[in-house]
Amino acid sequence: MPSSLSTDISQEEFRATLGRFTTGVVAVTALRERDSVPVGLAVNSFTSVSLAPALVLFCVSKGSTSWPQIRTADHFCINILGEHQQDLSSRLATRDTDKFRGVRWTATPGGAPVLDGAIGWLECSVETEYEAGDHDVIISRVHVLSSRDDGAPLVFYRGSYGRLAA
Ligand SMILES: Cc1cc2nc3c(=O)[nH]c(=O)nc-3n(C[C@H](O)[C@H](O)[C@H](O)COP(=O)(O)O)c2cc1C
Repeated sequence: MPSSLSTDISQEEFRATLGRFTTGVVAVTALRERDSVPVGLAVNSFTSVSLAPALVLFCVSKGSTSWPQIRTADHFCINILGEHQQDLSSRLATRDTDKFRGVRWTATPGGAPVLDGAIGWLECSVETEYEAGDHDVIISRVHVLSSRDDGAPLVFYRGSYGRLAA
């Protein structure tokens, strides 16, 4: 039985049902234009869009304080987080002013932070943005990308982190 047939969908119902859709977690990172300080946020609304041209998308809350700083950079990096990066994901999901304290990273060719331990990364720029309710849909063009053969993904399901069973 459906728990609700009403069009009045509560936030709890929405989260509960959408939470059954298992995702990975990415960290969207950049160097802030004005002072080259690293900025970033955790995102699970990430998916591929197009192969030619290479496009991906993610959705960002209009309330994000990090995204306005990321989108003005020439390039940003989408880091696919590994199973051992749960604490980093949680930190990137806060409003901490120093989310990168103690975080090791190297730069993409375009200068965006690749987080140590990420199992893959994509250097991107904003292609198109669409307003969608309380979020913006960010279509991103992929310029350079890389992945590791070792390492398992961080998984997000029903509001909690997990990992793939062997
Ligand atoms: C696993 C996980 C996935 C998330 N996915 C998204 C997302 O897809 N879009 C989004 O706007 N926020 C998402 N968030 C929340 C943001 O990471 C968080 O609200 C944001 O980073 C707040 O900090 P900011 O103001 O510095 O952007 C997610 C958080 C977690 C823990």
